[in-house]
Amino acid sequence: DKGNHRHFMLKEIYEQPDAISHTVSHYLDLANGKVKLPAKLPFDFKSLNRLTISACGTAFYAGLVAKYWFEKYARLPVEVDVASEFRYREPPMDADGLALFISQSGETADTLAALRYCKAQGQHIASIVNAQESTIARESDIVFPIQCGPEISVASTKATTAQLSVLASLAIAAGRQRGTISEAEEFELVDMLAKLPGAITKALASEDKIDQISHALSKADDVLYLGRGSLFPIALEGALKLKEITYIHAEGYASGELKHGPIALIDETLPVVVVAPSDQLFDKTISNMHEVAARGGKIILITDEAGAKSAGDDVSEIIIVPDAHEFVMPIICAIPVQLLAYHTAVFMGTDVDQPRNLAKSVTVE
Ligand code: F6R
Repeated sequence: DKGNHRHFMLKEIYEQPDAISHTVSHYLDLANGKVKLPAKLPFDFKSLNRLTISACGTAFYAGLVAKYWFEKYARLPVEVDVASEFRYREPPMDADGLALFISQSGETADTLAALRYCKAQGQHIASIVNAQESTIARESDIVFPIQCGPEISVASTKATTAQLSVLASLAIAAGRQRGTISEAEEFELVDMLAKLPGAITKALASEDKIDQISHALSKADDVLYLGRGSLFPIALEGALKLKEITYIHAEGYASGELKHGPIALIDETLPVVVVAPSDQLFDKTISNMHEVAARGGKIILITDEAGAKSAGDDVSEIIIVPDAHEFVMPIICAIPVQLLAYHTAVFMGTDVDQPRNLAKSVTVE
């Protein structure tokens, strides 16, 4: 049932404040500002020497964001790969490694094969799934359910942000066990996750603005998405969402890679979506945007108030997200990239919930 929404995708986009609030309530002890995982871990983060994450599509991008979190807050080396590559490369794996699989459906063939490979390599096996009765869940030593309710739209939205919320909680738990964050820091990070539903509600308020921007975007043949740090995977996610439901070619790049190739594409016909809240590296992003604008590229900037103030004349359109710490920004910035893809698709008249050639669950290679 779509309720009063035109598509399941929009319904699921709007379910995100509640879905995330539900998800984090299973992972956090909000009254005491601590992480409280739903099950006892069959391993100890302290003795792990590596975390290996495998997944496909959007779930892979969630894993890429998690790499930034686990490395920063838990000082744990992380490897992330798409499951279809991982499973055939026969990567060497030391004992005391944790292998983590992210899958909404829990049935993705490549992700399952990667899991079985890691099991044969003696890794601890954990998974983050939505479907708790799934094969990936059954074959894991520990399952972290995302608790967001069924996702009907083929393009993943609420499952992605719920996966990210679980990954963020796990990164805090890992940091505490490894002694890389203090109790006070844990308190602050937990508080940021607790406030996420409110921040996401605010991010959803830019829908009308995004709807207007989408009309021009629908005319593009190609769109470039740029982001740095933990927002780089959100640029990849934005490009994937746009491709999936509008069939417009889009690519995500790390902003710093602009000079190393994609800048050759820039002309008046290429919209560039820059996902960049103000942070220590914002100056570098401003100079990237200048390079784009100097070649006639049209910039759509997703940023916070402070970023909007310092962005200058190079930017054609600005989508404002609420101010927040960089820790939670990837989850907040996922919202405008979902809405941008959604409204562009609606404007173009494509089949939003059932895009051509795609299936919700990919159980064959
Ligand atoms: C993107 C999308 C796909 C899936 C991918 C993995 O919107 O839906 O990229 O994320 O097929 O699926 P799961 O998470 O079920 O393993």
